[in-house]
Amino acid sequence: MDKRAIIQGYLPQHIEPQETARAFAPSNIALCKYWGKRDANLNLPINPSLSVGLGKLGTETRLSPFDDPQDRVSLNGEAVDPSSAFALKLIAFLDLFRPAGSPRLAIDTHNNIPTAAGLASSASGFAALMKAINELYRLNLPVEVLSAFARMGSGSASRSLYDGFVEWRMGVREDGMDSHGVPLEATWPELRVGLLTVTEAEKPVGSRAGMARTVKSAHLYQSWPLQAATDLEQLHQAIAERDFERLGSTAEQNALSMHATMIASWPPLLYWQPESVAAMHRIWRLREEGLALYFTMDAGPNIKLLFEADSQAAVCQAFPELQVVTPFGSA
Ligand code: DP6
Repeated sequence: MDKRAIIQGYLPQHIEPQETARAFAPSNIALCKYWGKRDANLNLPINPSLSVGLGKLGTETRLSPFDDPQDRVSLNGEAVDPSSAFALKLIAFLDLFRPAGSPRLAIDTHNNIPTAAGLASSASGFAALMKAINELYRLNLPVEVLSAFARMGSGSASRSLYDGFVEWRMGVREDGMDSHGVPLEATWPELRVGLLTVTEAEKPVGSRAGMARTVKSAHLYQSWPLQAATDLEQLHQAIAERDFERLGSTAEQNALSMHATMIASWPPLLYWQPESVAAMHRIWRLREEGLALYFTMDAGPNIKLLFEADSQAAVCQAFPELQVVTPFGSA
């Protein structure tokens, strides 16, 4: 289905930009991963996923109308080439909403997380852009509609419309409007996410192409939807019971299962660097020694550690370079 036609059905008849709009959205880390699309145009997933938001880490986007023949894009204060993939993606998304003849915009994006280093900056990026569009044109759309629209920009962005734990329901509708994030009520003040940056280099194969390759070529992928469904259930229970071992072990097994399907693709997709594998062994050794420490990984070489507040000193001693995030504020 045509994205623009779906979106237009939700927009008011007359929309005018206000002076300027600004919005922030948190990044998120999936504990049960989204990997594989049933509709690549609308980013409709083959499996449901569940994430935790990264609190103050994310993207702030400012939109300001101005009199120029061309939109202007900046990232972290630096002008971006309007013909770059980054600028074209943002502008194409904006144009799904912008009325014909409406002023061009300065689109200023600030990420306080490394862009494209496996920390899902496209998630917070499209969520922040969606919120800013909603402000700029005074669309007053409900948050689940914003989430479904942000999903059209990047699937994982559907979860960045909310803080805390979020399930992205797959939905069944052809237009995908029931495929959006749903926040969980539960909080977990002691939960910590440690960002271990193995390399800030951009990944050679992005998630979009990686997923398509896996679905097309990996026989192992057939087992993935069942794995994800089971893990989603386990995570819901772990969160309801604040059972950290269950949360951590489920998230780690889910991430490694996803990576197994990537590795089984052709040509193979191995996002790990030697440093990623060394970190995994260190985590497993520390766990054998009694530390409640688990990890998850997205489509990149970097590792996200999962632990609770009472292990933080020991974890930081083992990984002094770790950036610790408190998803639910201070304990
Ligand atoms: C491994 O949301 O970046 O991080 O929908 O093509 O933009 P597109 O993909 P994207 O994929 C994220 C994949 C993942 C797992 C996850 O965040 O659930």
